[in-house]
Amino acid sequence: MLNKIGLIGGGYIGGVLAQEIARRGLSREVGLSDPAPIVNPEDPPERQDVTKKQSVSIGKCLDISEGLPTIRSDVRLVGSKDYSAIAGSDLIINTAGIPRKARPDGTYPSREELLAVNLKVTNQVAEGIRQNCPDAIIISIANPLDAIVYTLDKRLNPPKNKLMGMAGQLDSGRYCYFVADAAKVSVENVNAIVLGGHGDTMVPVRSSCMIAGIPVSKFLDEEILSAIETRTRKAGGEVVGLLGFGSAFVSPAWAALDMAEAIVYDKRKILPTCAKLEGEYGVDGLFVGVPAILGKNGVEQVVELDLTDEEKEAFKHSVGAVRKTCDEVDEMLEKL
Ligand code: LAC
Repeated sequence: MLNKIGLIGGGYIGGVLAQEIARRGLSREVGLSDPAPIVNPEDPPERQDVTKKQSVSIGKCLDISEGLPTIRSDVRLVGSKDYSAIAGSDLIINTAGIPRKARPDGTYPSREELLAVNLKVTNQVAEGIRQNCPDAIIISIANPLDAIVYTLDKRLNPPKNKLMGMAGQLDSGRYCYFVADAAKVSVENVNAIVLGGHGDTMVPVRSSCMIAGIPVSKFLDEEILSAIETRTRKAGGEVVGLLGFGSAFVSPAWAALDMAEAIVYDKRKILPTCAKLEGEYGVDGLFVGVPAILGKNGVEQVVELDLTDEEKEAFKHSVGAVRKTCDEVDEMLEKL
């Protein structure tokens, strides 16, 4: 059990994180920070007073706390409209920023299109972490995933083991679920990994996909596997289109908690992680999804896989897409 886990962002993912941490008892305290709602000066004064009193983070913490006797948990939850709730956290999970949302015509933006807004949010997040818990291990979930982790690195410059992004665990979970469903076997039997950036170029690694240790191609044919891999790459968007109000939130929270548990319990568990590469996979200075051993120090070690030529090419292409967005980050940060 850690002393404190800080959650930045009290939206849908933040809410699931808070309740699951309380239920699983991962830390003695949870701090949830989310900005105060914006008061509309055109609203009547009574409405403005109501808005001033509102706080999603304090409200969610109170709601969960009032359920603690029922689930028999003594975890303490504190919310704040500023960053004070995360003070002293050992581990931060960052979800701050706008999610993808379906447009009225049914289309939806790419994760990269969130960059301009979420970069500004991340700039404030970095400052909040610097002032309140500069030594915390950070798992970031906000999109565009790889570029936001890169931004946190630029702003905070933490030791590389202490900063990572969660995406591959979610994408791999989606890949495994689709495979289990098609092969009509338990999800517990399926093991697979998705590498690269958390965008449409991500790389479901077929050569790593096993059902009970047996290569997936023994169970599913080329056509089905190829359709599953295409669906995996677009799975986030599929949920955005269905929900209408935002993006997936339960599976991303659970995936991040798998990473958090590996750290809290020093499991040294290999999980797909958006980690800083310094030469591994032929990449230098970018955060990209790769398998990594997670333990009490965060990213203990990046694991290098033997990829097929085709997978290597797809990974290179995905890294190119991450590099492009990070170049945009560099330009935007200069102007901030
Ligand atoms: C997704 C978002 C959370 O893939 O990136 O659903």
